[in-house]
Amino acid sequence: MTQQISRPCSDPGHTFVQLVGAGPGDPGLLTIKALRAIEAADVVVYDRLVSDEILALIPASARTMDVGKAPGFHPVPQDDINALLIALARNGGRIVRLKGGDPFMFGRGGEEAIALASAQIPFEVIPGITSAQGCAAAMKVPLTHRDLATGVRFLTGHRRAGEHLDFDWLGLADPGTTLVVYMGLANIDEIAVRLILHGRDPGTPVLAVSRATRCNEVRLSSTLSRIAADAKLARLEAPTLFIIGEVAAIAAVMQRSASFCEGLDLHEDACVAAE
Ligand SMILES: C[S@@+](CC[C@H](N)C(=O)[O-])C[C@H]1O[C@@H](n2cnc3c(N)ncnc32)[C@H](O)[C@@H]1O
Repeated sequence: MTQQISRPCSDPGHTFVQLVGAGPGDPGLLTIKALRAIEAADVVVYDRLVSDEILALIPASARTMDVGKAPGFHPVPQDDINALLIALARNGGRIVRLKGGDPFMFGRGGEEAIALASAQIPFEVIPGITSAQGCAAAMKVPLTHRDLATGVRFLTGHRRAGEHLDFDWLGLADPGTTLVVYMGLANIDEIAVRLILHGRDPGTPVLAVSRATRCNEVRLSSTLSRIAADAKLARLEAPTLFIIGEVAAIAAVMQRSASFCEGLDLHEDACVAAE
């Protein structure tokens, strides 16, 4: 049986909670809809990945709640965040749940959406630029390319203590697939070794980008066999994203041509202007 899903008319006046994607950090990458939601918010509940420049856009009249940190720097448990959103919504007003990147890309936005729906709280989702897109754009590297990559897979490199990463390693070893690894800093050695063991070329280009699109962005070019050692040597810190695949070699082409384009990097100009 097919079921028709009608598109609800968007009436922000009756939306209690907005799950908003803040993008990878550069405020210029917020959508207009996200910016409007932030500017109209009564309460903003935000994560540790939301950049200071974006937090500065929250009106002084809005109450802000940081659920990315708590005493002892432990994140607030997800169930508590869900309960908080429901309680705030029942209190009334416009609640913005501001999340780094896109709320539905490894952001547990799905769990919040299900909790709100189960509690019959009206909400909407405002997508954000996910960090994969932010990193790709920062490096001027496409994630797909007609000659190099016919597909892309987004993976989490995070695993629970004592567990192995449970992936379809043979599929991931396909040379025509770009792999984008979120939260992979702690396990990039295991990821690289398993990919190589399953047939991915040790010389496959890899890019690591930390704090992409922010003024303190760090970029590293390496190969699959060297990335774990190089990342350690470069002392990369979270948030870092890895792009694995032939497309990553395009970064070198972009770097070579950078000398022709000096002064044209608009984001770097914006960073300098902000200092
Ligand atoms: C919990 S996930 C959240 C992802 C987020 N929802 C998104 O769409 O980008 C956190 C991971 O996203 C990646 N990430 C988020 N922001 C980043 C940035 N500005 N630069 C590099 N990686 C970033 C890192 O891999 C980090 O460990």
